[in-house]
Amino acid sequence: GEGCRTVPLAGHVGFDSLPDQLVNKSVSQGFCFNILCVGETGLGKSTLMDTLFNTKFEGEPATHTQPGVQLRSNTYDLQESNVGLKLTIVSTVGFGDQINKEDSYKPIVEFIDAQFEAYLQEELKIRRVLHTYHDSRIHACLYFIAPTGHSLKSLDLVTMKKLDSKVNIIPIIAKSDTISKSELTKFKIKITSELVSNGVQIYQFPTDDESVAEINGTMNAHLPFAVIGSTEEVKIGNKMMKARQYPWGTVQVENEAHCDFVKLREMLIRVNMEDLREQTHTRHYELYRRCKLEEMGFKDTDPDNKPFSLQETYEAKRNEFLGELQKKEEEMRQMFVQRVKEKEAELKEAEKELHEKFDRLKKLHQDEKKKLEDKKKSLDDEVNAFKQRKTAAELLQSQGPQAGGSQTLKRDKEKKKTRERYF
Ligand code: GTP
Ligand code: MG
Repeated sequence: GEGCRTVPLAGHVGFDSLPDQLVNKSVSQGFCFNILCVGETGLGKSTLMDTLFNTKFEGEPATHTQPGVQLRSNTYDLQESNVGLKLTIVSTVGFGDQINKEDSYKPIVEFIDAQFEAYLQEELKIRRVLHTYHDSRIHACLYFIAPTGHSLKSLDLVTMKKLDSKVNIIPIIAKSDTISKSELTKFKIKITSELVSNGVQIYQFPTDDESVAEINGTMNAHLPFAVIGSTEEVKIGNKMMKARQYPWGTVQVENEAHCDFVKLREMLIRVNMEDLREQTHTRHYELYRRCKLEEMGFKDTDPDNKPFSLQETYEAKRNEFLGELQKKEEEMRQMFVQRVKEKEAELKEAEKELHEKFDRLKKLHQDEKKKLEDKKKSLDDEVNAFKQRKTAAELLQSQGPQAGGSQTLKRDKEKKKTRERYF
């Protein structure tokens, strides 16, 4: 490179031990690997994990009556010779069991994102302890395809499409002992073409490292792997082998003529575990981190494409925030003034209405009063007229007594006399 000169060494210096130092350090720290098993209930997820790691991880089988999809995560410490592996197995629970499968992928996406978010938060801490941090990011997603021999379900395509930018997907055909050899070949081709036509990106075993380029290249052509799981050991010849026994014969898990289990184990654990970890960090996590930081307003360059530091971003954001705060305050003040004005006008209107109503009532009252007064007057007049007539009548009576009147008086006297006679 520029300003850099190659110089020979005259004797042994010792930095050729760097690779060994690296190995020793890694070994003493231990490794961590996280697998996500996505697949319908009872497709053999747990059995395959037990078969792959040659142990019995505890775990209850799920029922088909889950109201939604959940994820169950378990972490185990494994030891092989002097290498320690902290293995996390995450399994879907209830996947494919709901009538409406539209949202089934969501809990899976949310889980993967939550692990990225936790790592990002650790990275953003002032005091970070990334070397002791338990990294829970998913390194490999084994996608269990039901051995229908038909085609991928839309649930499978939708889910894989949602996951392919977030995780390394390795599709596998589960329980492949339940499908015939010729059907299996056709099924594999069908799946591959469906994945391609739907633009689903599955994990490709890397071919850039010479030492594994050949085997990885060959294995890429065998995807999706058709696997069989079993923890049952059967004596074949004079060896105990993992197998599934049927009335007509035995299927051997580790026999490459019977299934692709060995290929999966080779690729996932023995050849590409480190690449899966690396891809997770450099591709999937990097994408998550970039989107998240951009969403938060961080940028590497300003609008003129000049470098823009974190400090500058912070200050720009702070000013933007203060400006916005001021604007909000002013808006609120304006709104308050406006509201007061509105209320005032409303009150004035109400007052006016009240006045009008009062005037109307007053007028009504006056009219009524006037009517009553008129009536009283006319009645008074009638009374007076009557009185006048009465006086006139009395006057007439006192002036000239009539014969009819004294006759009545005489008759009364006679009646009285008669009564006295009888008693
Ligand atoms: P859940 O956790 O309940 O969703 O199920 P799972 O996907 O973990 O399936 P599990 O491993 O519990 O297996 C379910 C049933 O399928 C068991 O009876 C297994 O013996 C059987 N099984 C597992 N793997 C295979 C396989 O490769 N072929 C066949 N034929 N049966 C299998
Ligand atoms: Mg299970």
